Amino acid sequence: MEITNVPRHVSIIMDGNGRWAKERGKERVYGHLNGVESVRACTEAAVEAGVEYLSLFAFSEENWNRPGSEVDALMGLMMQSIRKEVGTLMDNGVRFVVLGNRARLSEGLNAAIDSLEKETAGNVRMTLIIFLSYSGKWDILQAAKSLARRFAGDPEGLDAATPADFENELVTAGIPDPDLLIRTSGEQRISNYMLWQSAYTEFYFTDVLWPDFRKREFRKALKAYAARDRRYGKVK
Ligand code: IPE
Ligand code: IPE
Ligand code: MG
Repeated sequence: MEITNVPRHVSIIMDGNGRWAKERGKERVYGHLNGVESVRACTEAAVEAGVEYLSLFAFSEENWNRPGSEVDALMGLMMQSIRKEVGTLMDNGVRFVVLGNRARLSEGLNAAIDSLEKETAGNVRMTLIIFLSYSGKWDILQAAKSLARRFAGDPEGLDAATPADFENELVTAGIPDPDLLIRTSGEQRISNYMLWQSAYTEFYFTDVLWPDFRKREFRKALKAYAARDRRYGKVK
């Protein structure tokens, strides 16, 4: 089936791993483990559909407040996936990028991320963005500080600053705003994700838990998006 009106940038708040595991009488980590399979499936489905940017909310700034054992497991899983998926990313022409408060990540994880970003930097078919230790308020604040530094001693320049100038300071600079934002597991909130960037994003909520969100579900979301009428405040 040919998919029409394909969004340029699809983003996903991957939610429901813990509940998926609980339904099976397992530890939360078991859900995260199975969620990795959904990441692979959705990455493939996005490449196949011709999506240019797929971004995934993998770990929020707030998620640092989870029990240490779960945080460690998630970081370990991230490390393991980075090591394992190089081949798949190269085969599919996928550029890998991590965005977020990188200062909070361990040295080892930062090094592994750097190396995968470098290795895949020349891939042009799709960009896969992993939001790690990210929050929308953190992003907006760091952008505001950076803009203030840039215009230090130039109050007139600051007064003339435009939304485009501000966007250039967000960690997503150069990346188009998400056209479609999917959230799994039935929750209908943004949980401090891309607050600025989602100003005109189309939202798609599904009760499907993240470990069950595979190619068929991804394509279903693209189909729903294709039927949306984006007006941007105008009259048609
Ligand atoms: C999403 O699943 C993964 C992360 C937020 C890291 P959860 O771990 O939030 O699973 P639930 O929402 O508790 O089911
Ligand atoms: C949002 O999920 C963060 C990620 C998916 C990485 P949470 O499970 O942390 O969000 P809340 O707590 O339900 O809002
Ligand atoms: Mg959750």
